[in-house]
Amino acid sequence: MKGRELKPRLYPGKASAIIGPRRSGKTYLLYSIIGADRERYVYLNFENPLLFGITGRDFPQIVDSYFDLYPENIKSEIFFLLDEIQNVLDWEIGVRYLLDEGFKVSVTGSSSKLLSREVATQLRGRAVSYILLPLSFREFLEFKGVKFSKSDLYGRKIHKVKKLLLEYLRFGAFPEVALLDDRVRILEEYLSVMITKDIIERHGIRNVALVESIVKLLLASYSKYTSYSSIHRFLRSEFGVSKTTVFEYLKALEDSFFVFFLPRYTRSEKESQRAPKKVYLVDTGLALFSRKDTARDMENVVFLELLRRKHYQNPLLNVYYYGGSGEKEVDFLVTKSGRVTELIQVTQTLSESFEREVNAIVKAGKTFRCRNLTIVTLEEEDTINRDGFRIKVVPLWKFLLNF
Ligand SMILES: Nc1ncnc2c1ncn2[C@@H]1O[C@H](COP(=O)(O)OP(=O)(O)OP(=O)(O)O)[C@@H](O)[C@H]1O
Ligand SMILES: [Mg+2]
Repeated sequence: MKGRELKPRLYPGKASAIIGPRRSGKTYLLYSIIGADRERYVYLNFENPLLFGITGRDFPQIVDSYFDLYPENIKSEIFFLLDEIQNVLDWEIGVRYLLDEGFKVSVTGSSSKLLSREVATQLRGRAVSYILLPLSFREFLEFKGVKFSKSDLYGRKIHKVKKLLLEYLRFGAFPEVALLDDRVRILEEYLSVMITKDIIERHGIRNVALVESIVKLLLASYSKYTSYSSIHRFLRSEFGVSKTTVFEYLKALEDSFFVFFLPRYTRSEKESQRAPKKVYLVDTGLALFSRKDTARDMENVVFLELLRRKHYQNPLLNVYYYGGSGEKEVDFLVTKSGRVTELIQVTQTLSESFEREVNAIVKAGKTFRCRNLTIVTLEEEDTINRDGFRIKVVPLWKFLLNF
């Protein structure tokens, strides 16, 4: 088993929740918690049909059965690892019981709603959540057996890294896709599981053709602007659906981590709600089922990396795009506790778009008094001085390895 960058921690009296998209490695990460002393870890996978029908109210019985088996452990620290907990009715009540009894608890789920207010009222303040995404480029290299450290920056190894970056952009970074050969078939299966299990079954959706059309539309729109109303307008004539239905389906897709809608940075929350969003996929491999485009893959990959920084390292970070939907301004604007800390532009090559990219980022730098400006390219590396600002031009592989 390969190590992951996300390190969930277990606290007494609190449940740790690992949530994230299908096949991102949640179960493996849960396994990684298991220590040498195996009898002290109770692993239950609620996707196993044998466990269907168990509810949170049955948990005291599970604990009793455990101590029947291991009475010698009554005084030891016991861990409950509960996989795909969203399948359990009243699971919050069960988890609360386990915590109150002094057990350590970690759960996984593939719905972002798992710990939302409506769902987890019983657990308020008693859970910490970690979001696990597909592999970062650093993890991807490790899964590919390539060890890369700072001292390799000037060596021959960068040729290998650059080649693997193209693979990373094209096929994405689900762990199995990195490890196995039949990548397209695996991705095809993932896409279909996400649609049937996480969208259609979980939300009791009947209009399968509509879901498929929305998915197609989102795949075709990755790294582009969209809005709920434009999607609705597009589907209205064919399906005669209401805006509410389209909105619900989009929420379901967002909830399952299939897609992220990046908001525009605006002064007010209300303005931001109304502005178009940018569409990013949870994995660029999924774009194989639409029209692939390297520039858009690059932008999508940078987005996911910024999301990892937020979810793995610093929850105070927030990511937006900046500027209008007509003229291109700045691809990513990062804030920390509400202050703009970083502006990032992504472009395959600077040669054609040089003035446009540089002007936009410097203008935004002035507006927000932000000096941390980066232009990410596929190959180019440079430093540009303009109006007292210093812009770093960084190749994508270096940006992702973050030295
Ligand atoms: N840390 C790892 N080391 C090696 N292989 C891994 C690792 N994490 C995931 N994998 C590979 O990816 C596959 C999917 O991982 P895992 O089952 O943990 O994902 P999951 O998020 O629990 O998926 P699901 O949503 O289907 O339950 C594993 O079967 C394994 O082949
Ligand atoms: Mg799993």
